[in-house]
Amino acid sequence: MQIQFLDASAATSARLVARIVNKDAVPADLEPVLAEAARMARFSGKAGQIFEGFVERGGQVVRVVLAGIGAGDAKDRKGAIEKAGASIVAKYLTSGETALALDLTGAGLSADEAVGALTGAVLRSWRHDVYRTKLADDKKPTLAVISVVGAPEGVEALWEVEQAVASGVALTRELVTEPANTIYPETFVERCKAPMEAAGLKLRVLDDKEMAALGMGSLLGVAQGSVRPARLLVMEWMGGAAGDKPVAFVGKGVTFDTGGISLKPPAGMEDMKWDMGGAGAVAGTMLALALRKAKANVVGVCGLVENMPDGNAQRPGDVVTSLSGQTIEVINTDAEGRLVLCDALTWVQREYSPVKIVDLATLTGAIIAALAHEYAGLFSNNDALAAELTAAGEATGDRLWRFPMGPAYDKQLDSAIADMKNVGTRFGGSITAAQFLKRFIENDTPWAHLDIAGTVWADKAGATWDKGATGFGVRVLDRFVRDTAEA
Ligand code: BES
Ligand code: MN
Ligand code: ZN
Repeated sequence: MQIQFLDASAATSARLVARIVNKDAVPADLEPVLAEAARMARFSGKAGQIFEGFVERGGQVVRVVLAGIGAGDAKDRKGAIEKAGASIVAKYLTSGETALALDLTGAGLSADEAVGALTGAVLRSWRHDVYRTKLADDKKPTLAVISVVGAPEGVEALWEVEQAVASGVALTRELVTEPANTIYPETFVERCKAPMEAAGLKLRVLDDKEMAALGMGSLLGVAQGSVRPARLLVMEWMGGAAGDKPVAFVGKGVTFDTGGISLKPPAGMEDMKWDMGGAGAVAGTMLALALRKAKANVVGVCGLVENMPDGNAQRPGDVVTSLSGQTIEVINTDAEGRLVLCDALTWVQREYSPVKIVDLATLTGAIIAALAHEYAGLFSNNDALAAELTAAGEATGDRLWRFPMGPAYDKQLDSAIADMKNVGTRFGGSITAAQFLKRFIENDTPWAHLDIAGTVWADKAGATWDKGATGFGVRVLDRFVRDTAEA
């Protein structure tokens, strides 16, 4: 979707014009017949309402759409404006219309709010149709340009920044959507390369042999059942003060999770193509930070493996030695995400001494049982970091809910043969997974783990996404960097 900013005269020639409407404030400059039609349709500008009418302007029929944003407080208002932008695009994306004028005249939006409407519009326009060879013409996206008129002062500069974030979300969605025969560790790296290097990120890639030489026995134990070799993708963005230690983002990148020898049942197994959603979010975030030239030092690490059953796959009961030196009894080969993350966490601490670490992972089904698809789980050893992330989540809509941790949960991981086992009991499965990861955090470095298993993929369309990949994680991490590392 192309966004352009024009002066008010451009709205007079448009065939499709959208207006954002506050509660009980249908624009006074609308033709009386349209204002009456909106009233008849009970459109009052409530948040989520949308009205379409047709009117004659200068001898041609013009479609006018009104999108309500209500009269909520500042926080509700922000989300409502974003949704209004998104719902306009959802309505016209495949309508046959190719251009839309978004006329903000008189809507009373701040520059920040106006940019929110554009963010919603662009995020909602994302689709991935590369595998559809038989899409009927009337199902194909047509809307390609939004011309913004009557925008408040300063919108263009703010949009530059938000557009970078939207591009990051788009990369994440693409990586998450692509099937596992297309995106596996090597191709995940390849797919990231061009956009990332063009944006100025420095990439490092560790292959399976280098990881073996370092002693990443836990990550490689997961990969050993697959013909696809593992990779560790490292993305550096050093836009902050030289010498300042970076913030680290670490993502679970299981490009397909069959469960391994602890094989998953068939129903729904196709969902496990998006078991790399944590890595996808880290990649998208790093691209966003680079595109908007963030004034912060940030390193992203993606642990990329495929978890397959095979003659060479690891077995339940196997003991592996992690990069940290700690040994792990692999009770369940389907609890593989933590086995990948632990080595990536140790590696990033040794290599970069980060000031804070946030990992993201589609780690447990239990988090979906607890939170459904509304919040991701947040686990942390540091109250200040947890508060920063929670606030960033509320500000962006990538919402986070904190869970408890503690020694009683940790005890579930004691093993009879090794330093720990990789699963606990049936109860508190998301928490014991977090306890496992915590064992790999050195010197009490502030660390948070986001269990995003419930928020990476949507079975139905949401506010700013169609059904499918949501791009969850990019917006909250970007906001977190802005409000903490760049503030
Ligand atoms: N990738 C799954 C978790 C998952 C489940 C993500 C459903 C998205 C949707 C993870 O690797 C896994 O299999 N976890 C197990 C852990 C268990 C064996 C302790 C789970 O949640 O069942
Ligand atoms: Mn698994
Ligand atoms: Zn998994």
